[in-house]
Amino acid sequence: MKRIGVLTSGGDSPGMNAAIRAVVRCGIDAGLEVWGIERGYEGLLDGELKLMDRSSVGDILHRGGTVLKTARSERFREDKWIDRAVEILQTFGIEGVVIIGGDGSLHGGLGLAKRGIKVMGLPGTIDNDLNYTDFTIGFDTAVSTVLEAISKIRDTSSSHDRTSVIEVMGRSCGDIALYSAIAGGAECVLIPEEEEDINKVCRKIIEGSNRGKLHSIIIKAEGTPTPSGELVKLIEERTGKETKLVVLSYLQRGGSPTLNDRMLATLCGAKAVEMLKDDFESKAIGTVDGHIVAYDLEEALNMPKRFDEDLYKLIDVLSK
Ligand code: F6P
Repeated sequence: MKRIGVLTSGGDSPGMNAAIRAVVRCGIDAGLEVWGIERGYEGLLDGELKLMDRSSVGDILHRGGTVLKTARSERFREDKWIDRAVEILQTFGIEGVVIIGGDGSLHGGLGLAKRGIKVMGLPGTIDNDLNYTDFTIGFDTAVSTVLEAISKIRDTSSSHDRTSVIEVMGRSCGDIALYSAIAGGAECVLIPEEEEDINKVCRKIIEGSNRGKLHSIIIKAEGTPTPSGELVKLIEERTGKETKLVVLSYLQRGGSPTLNDRMLATLCGAKAVEMLKDDFESKAIGTVDGHIVAYDLEEALNMPKRFDEDLYKLIDVLSK
């Protein structure tokens, strides 16, 4: 292996830059040529490749977003475009690619791997929805952002004796909501993994108010069935408490990565280069029980969903 590529794909996440930096610098240190592919698979298909050097990744470790830019690629779902991508990589003499992205992006990588390109998948998404790894790059920063928002919203909620519903991202995964609710001291959390019980939410608000609570914070994952606007109306009607909605949206995707995200991104990036250099098969790299792991790419993407039921139950206990 002489030349490798690196790309970021799908929704950006804080820590992607730290991962790019590690891949480029460890790659060069290992005697490889490292090519940056811009705008994910879209840029690959359009031939947007540039040779990286050590200084091209200077001053990016602490920055959110991705200097390589990113995109969601509809084209890459089709075999003919994956074939085309392989041709482009072959034209540049690139034999291995590090792909930093979420589930869809790593599935795209599997398409390349099945056509003979060596792929190292890094879990780059705020959603924490890749089953083979305990944490994804960007999740910790996104939850920290939500926690900061909860503190601010709590100040104003208690001054007005209000209920606040805070909608967080995560697609069909409730982890951002779950961890934010635990660490932010929310009264209730609504996540896609559990049946939605709006009456239970209302009961908790009323019981809390009867105990003298000045506010209630409800964290709602975006992937739950009832739209947030409707939920707020229902809560207001059933509890008689003024209820406000805050949708945190893209705020959760930006910002300087936390220590945990910088470490995870850097260690995964370094591991990816080590495995490419040693000519291993395509892998998905992540973290399990505090250790960096590398699983067979296809196996990793087919691992069953993990959900911590105990963490969910704990919220009820803590908010009594
Ligand atoms: O996958 C990351 C994520 O931020 C999800 O939480 C969210 O549902 C989605 O991306 C938003 O996607 P887009 O950037 O395409 O609007």
